[in-house]
Amino acid sequence: MCLSADSTKKVLITGGAGFIGGTLIRRLLMDTSVEIFNLDKMGYASDLHGINQVLRTLGESAEGRHKHLRVNLADSKSTSTAVSFADPDLVIHLAAESHVDRSISSPLQFVESNIIGTFNLLQALLKHWENLPTQRQREFLMLHISTDEVYGSLEHKGYFSENSSYDPRSPYSATKASSDHLVNSWFHTYGLPLIRTNCSNNYGPWQFPEKLIPMVILKAFSKENIPIYGDGKNIRDWLFVEDHVEALIQVIDKGEVGRNYCIGGLNEKTNLEIVESICGVLDLLRPKYAPHSEYISYVEDRPGHDRRYAINPERILREIGWKPKYGFKQGIEATVQWYLSNLDWCSLMKKKSNYKGERIGLR
Ligand code: NAD
Ligand code: TYD
Repeated sequence: MCLSADSTKKVLITGGAGFIGGTLIRRLLMDTSVEIFNLDKMGYASDLHGINQVLRTLGESAEGRHKHLRVNLADSKSTSTAVSFADPDLVIHLAAESHVDRSISSPLQFVESNIIGTFNLLQALLKHWENLPTQRQREFLMLHISTDEVYGSLEHKGYFSENSSYDPRSPYSATKASSDHLVNSWFHTYGLPLIRTNCSNNYGPWQFPEKLIPMVILKAFSKENIPIYGDGKNIRDWLFVEDHVEALIQVIDKGEVGRNYCIGGLNEKTNLEIVESICGVLDLLRPKYAPHSEYISYVEDRPGHDRRYAINPERILREIGWKPKYGFKQGIEATVQWYLSNLDWCSLMKKKSNYKGERIGLR
């Protein structure tokens, strides 16, 4: 399905008030003419400021194209009503509780949103899809967004790919793995047209400041200790969020129904390398306070801390023709600059959610 500048499709995006969903919605508002239904319960990490900024910039041309539906997917009745109201041609399912540390402290919320929520959405979509007229039924698609964390933890060698077996180790990744299995089974058993993607760690503007990169930027900026879990040698494969969004749009356009695609940045870094590169950017921007790395502090490790994630993105490179556009240096500089220019937003988000930058997820 091509989301072009003259597309009249109705797109239901779950989790559109979150980090990746918001980036996707801003992009679709700017580059296409689709009508967007943003289903989000407005949890602690949700915010509509970025989308509203774009709506204001676009003015009349975007009027009526973004509707926010404040719905919790854990509630089957309101999920079903929202799906009927949106009457979608395309569904992009991003809504999930997404922070590993919170999943250690409060796993039930992850079961409710990621498993029950996905189940309720699938049931509502199946009913919707079965009642569509033939042509719309044929073109309908659901894209389920998942994570590389469902594949477990790697040592020094090897990569995750679409054929890796599932081995989730945190309540977050276990509930995302469950949602992947539900989605697969609704495709195989009921024929609901689905594609699934599993992406590596994202970073960029508008990410709630509890995740590693925004957290480090804010702590280093305020000359607070920067907590590195364990020995700092855990590895993640970092992808700039705009590259992830571009991958999703291309998968919607060229992906094969029933297939899954792993998305990675070909950009493995240890946590210590990430922290040092952020401190390096801050040193250039604020030489008076250099070196920012003096605030690095090693703290107790995360329980069950996965050692390494790394994606082999061969399938999406070859079959879809996507590749990341942002190098890490460019992406991290843009991200640090964005956070320094948006400190008010960070304070507002922390205040709204009553999050003060404290450690979460120790047993
Ligand atoms: P986020 O936490 O910033 O946003 C998630 C949004 O989903 C929030 O606005 C929240 O309110 C909403 N939501 C959660 N539970 C809901 C429910 N029950 N009903 C309605 N809305 C609900 O997360 P994100 O980083 O934007 O991640 C989006 C998706 O991408 C998630 O499914 C996540 O597993 C996946 N993903 C994230 C990353 C990453 O690095 N951030 C990497 C790979 C995959
Ligand atoms: P995070 O951003 O929570 O993403 P994920 O756990 O989903 O990969 O964490 C990224 C890495 O950074 C992970 O190895 C844990 C580590 N980390 C720290 O060392 N200190 C911190 O304060 C946080 C939040 C994460």
